[in-house]
Amino acid sequence: MNPIDSRDGLKSYYQDRSVVDAYMQRRTAQPLNGLLHRRQVEFLNAQIQARSPHAVLEIACGPGRLTTAIRDAPFGVAVDASQPMLETARRRMNGNLERWSFLRSDAFVLPFRNASFDVAYTLRFVRHFQIEDRQRLYREVQRVLKPKGAFVVDALNRQVSYPSRLKQGLEKYKIYDVLYDRHELASELDAAGFRVLAIEGMLKHFPLQQRINRLRFRLGSVARFLIEGLEQIPGNRPSTWMVLCEKKG
Ligand SMILES: C[S@@+](CC[C@H](N)C(=O)[O-])C[C@H]1O[C@@H](n2cnc3c(N)ncnc32)[C@H](O)[C@@H]1O
Repeated sequence: MNPIDSRDGLKSYYQDRSVVDAYMQRRTAQPLNGLLHRRQVEFLNAQIQARSPHAVLEIACGPGRLTTAIRDAPFGVAVDASQPMLETARRRMNGNLERWSFLRSDAFVLPFRNASFDVAYTLRFVRHFQIEDRQRLYREVQRVLKPKGAFVVDALNRQVSYPSRLKQGLEKYKIYDVLYDRHELASELDAAGFRVLAIEGMLKHFPLQQRINRLRFRLGSVARFLIEGLEQIPGNRPSTWMVLCEKKG
C-alpha cells in the first residue's frame, strides 16, 4: 500500500480513536522520541520567547503535544482537523485554557484574517504532503502571518532517515514524509517566501541513538542516559531539523 499523502487521507487517518489515544505515548514514551520531543519544545519556546509575540498560531496541533508545553504565548490558537485530537488536546491542557483556544479547522483554509499572527508553527504536518500541497500550506501560513512574522517547521534529513527507513522496511511507514538535504529544504522555504534564519539539527547521532533505543528494555535507565549524553556531542548528521524562518518583505 502506498503511504498516505493526500489531504483527505491524512485527515481521516487522524479521526481514528485508537490512533489518537496512542499518539502521545508513541511520540514521547521511548528515550529517543522523548528526547526529540523535549528538544523540539525547547527550540519552540526559545524562538517564541525571543520574539515576545502577541498572537501565536499552532497548525495541526494534534493532542497538544507541543501546545501544553509552550510557555510565553500570551494569546494562542491551535487548529486541527480532527475532533478527537482536539478533545484530547483540550483535556491535556488541564484547565489552563485562558491563553489558548482550540479550533476545528482545515490548515489549507485557515479561518483567520490576513496578518493575524506574529508566530506560526507546525510540526509533523507539512512534511506529510507532496510539493503542491506543501506550497498551498506555505501560502496560507504567509497569508495569516504579519510581515516579518516567524514560522517554525520540522523536516527530515534524507541522508540519515532514508537508510534507517530502508532497514526498517519502507512498507512500515503508513504516512508519507518528504526527505530533504539541507540545501533543498532551505530552497523550498525561500521559494515559498520565507527567509531561513536558523536550521537546528536534532538526534545528532541517530544511528547509534536508535541502536541504544532498541536495547532500552535490557539497558533500563542507562539507555536514556546514553541517548541524551550523545546529543551533547556535536554532530553534523542529525535525523531531524527544526527550522526558523521569517516571512520576507
Ligand atoms: C502527525 S499529527 C501531528 C500533531 C502535532 N503537530 C505533533 O507534532 O505532535 C498530524 C495532525 O495533523 C492533523 N491534520 C491532518 N490533516 C489536516 C488538515 N487538513 N488541517 C488541519 N489538521 C490536519 C491531524 O488531525 C493530526 O492531528
